[in-house]
Amino acid sequence: MSEDIKKGLMGVTVDETSISKVMPEINSLTYRGYAAQDLCANCKFEEVAYLILNGELPNKKQLKEFEKQEKKERTISKALVEAIKKIPKKAHPMDVARTAVSIMGLEDKETRDNSPKANMRKVMRIFAKTPVALAAFYRTRKGKKIILPKKKLSFSENFFHMCFGKVPNKDIVKAFDVSLILYAEHSFNVSTFTARTITSSLSDIHGAITGAIASLKGPLHGGANEEVMHMMNKIKKPENAFKWINKALDNKNVVMGFGHRVYKSGDSRVPTMREYFGKVAKIKKDKKFEKIYDIVERVMIERKNIHPNVDYPTGPTYHLMGFDTDFFTPIFVISRITGWSAHIIEQHAANKLIRPLASYNGNKYRKVNKLNKR
Ligand code: CMC
Repeated sequence: MSEDIKKGLMGVTVDETSISKVMPEINSLTYRGYAAQDLCANCKFEEVAYLILNGELPNKKQLKEFEKQEKKERTISKALVEAIKKIPKKAHPMDVARTAVSIMGLEDKETRDNSPKANMRKVMRIFAKTPVALAAFYRTRKGKKIILPKKKLSFSENFFHMCFGKVPNKDIVKAFDVSLILYAEHSFNVSTFTARTITSSLSDIHGAITGAIASLKGPLHGGANEEVMHMMNKIKKPENAFKWINKALDNKNVVMGFGHRVYKSGDSRVPTMREYFGKVAKIKKDKKFEKIYDIVERVMIERKNIHPNVDYPTGPTYHLMGFDTDFFTPIFVISRITGWSAHIIEQHAANKLIRPLASYNGNKYRKVNKLNKR
């Protein structure tokens, strides 16, 4: 392969962004200049969502208005509810998320208006309604009644309420909120780049987010948090972990939840999420997954020098919180909608059609024979 080809666009800078950066000087992911872990310590998810979308942290008044808007948009249409009820129960919830945003695009009166103001209004609708649609599927596929959103609850509390009919203790809600903050944005990752590519043809935000969800589903991206749980379930108990991971590495298997295109010596989001995973395990009085976690991590670092990424601690944390494994990546979606949306708005503001070249390695020119001569 020619050296000019940058397979996977590895190391290629394709545009500018002011939304996020992994800053080497503090070895951390930053949103609009703030370290993600500092945001986890000082803010709730809604504040970070505002920051990502608007460029600055909100003051009290701005936050109140933002929360009011989000809460106001927390209902989904009857048509969308009916569509969700008809979706096969075995469908993957990521496909449900994709379909739900797509249907929202059919219903939204401003779908084709790509002006900044209309885009921000559409963002609020997608941001507020997607968790409602997902929770509706969470319930209907179990044959349970859909639970309507409650305006007095925060974004995270409301998601628990709509899925389980109750809000857990504040430490569990905080751990969930932290996971949303850590998942909210990560520059030109696959799904964000997908959203920007779709946007670059001047397509609309619902289409761009639909495409981003499809991209996030893959196990090399957001789908890894589900794969981590499948791995932990296969390992079953801490006593099996050492043998299991060594065998996986002997067989040259890819171990989900490890490695990263950008971080080569550790994902800066992991220590924070690991801490909250520990807190949730303590509350739930279940240390099994923590023990498996530590053994697999140690072997991966010792044998391969490959560190965990954020999907490694979020997987078992969501499991302990009670979520079905196939809902882990949809939780990533309800957070990353903020990052995707900020990028879509940024792309619209300084657009250039994304259209790379390919080095052709197919047949030389050939004449077409008539059907009866082939
Ligand atoms: N398990 C085993 N070996 C690995 C892993 C892993 N998880 N990750 C990288 N390697 C090896 C890889 O086999 C390669 O070895 P060699 O040079 O001998 O062929 C070397 O490390 C370099 O890896 P790469 O695949 O060329 O690196 P990349 O930047 O293309 O891929 C990655 C990054 C995330 C796709 C990869 O690390 C991976 O497949 N990880 C597992 C899936 C995962 O956890 N994805 C979540 C990503 S982060 C959060 C998110 O987006 O959701």
